Amino acid sequence: MSNSGEGELLHTFKGIPFTTRSSPELLKSLDTFKAREDDVLLVSYPKSGTHWLAGVITKLYMTQVTVTSPIEFGDVSQLEELNKLSSKRIIPTHLDYNMLPPNFKNKKCKMIYISRNPKDTAVSMFHYYRDNPNLPTVDTWTAFFDMFLKGNVVCGSWFDHFLSWAEHEDEKNILFLFYEDMKKDLPKAVKEIALFLNLNVSDNDIQDICKKSSFSEMKNDTEKENSDPNHTVCALTSNRKLIFRKGAVGDWKNYFTPKQNIRFQEIFNEKMKLSKM
Ligand code: A3P
Repeated sequence: MSNSGEGELLHTFKGIPFTTRSSPELLKSLDTFKAREDDVLLVSYPKSGTHWLAGVITKLYMTQVTVTSPIEFGDVSQLEELNKLSSKRIIPTHLDYNMLPPNFKNKKCKMIYISRNPKDTAVSMFHYYRDNPNLPTVDTWTAFFDMFLKGNVVCGSWFDHFLSWAEHEDEKNILFLFYEDMKKDLPKAVKEIALFLNLNVSDNDIQDICKKSSFSEMKNDTEKENSDPNHTVCALTSNRKLIFRKGAVGDWKNYFTPKQNIRFQEIFNEKMKLSKM
């Protein structure tokens, strides 16, 4: 990794690297955030399908909700901005469970956590590091692979993030979704989301939502629109054109060497051995 960018683009809060698009003052004040009972949180580790899920949820609700910018995006004024919204709020976040404003937990707000095979997440994040000017540059996949395994990347360790949420898998207000399940059977996943959010949608609507949420449709839509820097669901960029890269399952096989795969698997097995998921 080139050291030049890192100092300027990232800072660490409570041991987790954030981009400077999340100000330390905002991160410090998160604990004071007042949640509303009908808030819905859309939670993910970066590159797990956040935009895809946000697209589906927006279509499910039609116009009745606002998908806000991430709670950890911007400076302290962010919390005030969110407070001002009169509509129902769908709030994206990459925060791990421990950093989540406690009021969301106390009020038992609905939360949807989307996860993805960490090997594909790593490859997707590698490209994000290369393309996204808000992130430090990485020279090679080999260098990035080590950084990812050490949790030396933005939002910290994938394992810590996943495990912090997975501990709460029995809580009824949290729905866990997997990117791979959405790829395999999107209508099923959309039905599950609708049920969780108590939304009545017809089979026709589901079909329509799935059609409009395909990778190619979403990528095309993005090519046509002008990005509004204030409207983003990812604290790491406001440029949606960086998001729709390949949209595939198993791309890791094109990057991992057999040795890297063994090393990843060993660490995965060790870290995840206590998780039921
Ligand atoms: P790839 O880089 O592997 O292509 P996030 O929104 O959390 O940043 O995740 C981005 C990843 O989700 C990217 O993965 C992107 O292509 C993929 N993605 C976005 N929309 C998708 C869709 N409609 N179908 C499948 N994958 C999608």
